[in-house]
Amino acid sequence: MLSKRKEKILKQMATNNSVIVTDKLEEALNSCLASFPDDKLFLVVDDKSDRFCLPLICDTLRIEKFKKIVIPSGEENKILSSVEKIWLFLSKRGADRKSLVVNLGGGMVTDLGSFAASTFKRGVQYVNIPTTMLAQVDASVGGKTGFNFNGLKNEIGVINQPLQVIIDTRFLETLDHENFISGYAEMIKHGLIHSQDHLTELMNFDLLKPDYSLLQGMISRSVLIKNYFVAKDPTEKNIRKALNFGHTVGHAFESYSLKSANPLLHGHAVAYGMITELYLSRLRSGFPDGNMHFLSKWIMSIYGKFRITTDDYAELYELMGHDKKNEGRRINFTLIKSVGEVEINKDCTKNQIFEALDYFRELNNI
Ligand code: GLY
Repeated sequence: MLSKRKEKILKQMATNNSVIVTDKLEEALNSCLASFPDDKLFLVVDDKSDRFCLPLICDTLRIEKFKKIVIPSGEENKILSSVEKIWLFLSKRGADRKSLVVNLGGGMVTDLGSFAASTFKRGVQYVNIPTTMLAQVDASVGGKTGFNFNGLKNEIGVINQPLQVIIDTRFLETLDHENFISGYAEMIKHGLIHSQDHLTELMNFDLLKPDYSLLQGMISRSVLIKNYFVAKDPTEKNIRKALNFGHTVGHAFESYSLKSANPLLHGHAVAYGMITELYLSRLRSGFPDGNMHFLSKWIMSIYGKFRITTDDYAELYELMGHDKKNEGRRINFTLIKSVGEVEINKDCTKNQIFEALDYFRELNNI
């Protein structure tokens, strides 16, 4: 748990108040809808959220007025043709600049729906109702929108803040374990970059028997940390890059695993990326050796093994070169000096990166 003082500071920093964590979802949504006409309400869902999550907002006033589009679920559909479907739907059903698009679903739906809304007629307002852990603690918050392109994650997109993000942890009660821990990785990242208190509460939480009332408070605190960095630097010129800890290597693992029979979930890839980048943090920022081993083993105990060989290094290195944080030929990392002390724009040599991959590979071969 964060100390009262730290929580107060975070709340003051996150001045935009654009995120609500609630178990009164309908109430929060109704107040968002108040200033939009009945014929200007649009809903984007995928086939999963349509079936399993929409019933939870069915008591929302005027829900029957929404014009709804259902897109196919799955990361493989986070592509331009899905965006085109949403644009076409908005265009044919009379959406204009006074419309509101509500995105209900996991990160795929919130990223695509918010991109389609942000670019349609140069921008329509949107609300995200994230239904997975990953979307609640990360993807739906902070205004990053977009889709995958040319084999690269989120290669095309814009940053545009939502009118509101409404988080209801009741959605998480039906989430399977792997998707649950996938989102949890982003919470661990928030602890590592900002707060030992948050990290400690995450370590003490029983992931096999989640206590959902406890989880709601933890998600609130995690989102406050995310929003703190977003509010300080919405367009990621500077300190928002803190949120990329674990992601330079994580995205490379994720893209690389797409070729395998069992692609990694995003959060698992980030968890493995955090282990590798903890090693780089030790090399480049003086992160304490003992804590690096302790945290790496704890993360492995949650996510299990991901085996790589030295033959994979060249391609992983090449994939890291595509990271959006790079400037020119340098591969830039967000590293940590200690828990809660971030250093951004730290470039590492190829040798250092390979040494970190050695650490990760050896940990997985024990
Ligand atoms: N997922 C990192 C960010 O929103 O900046």
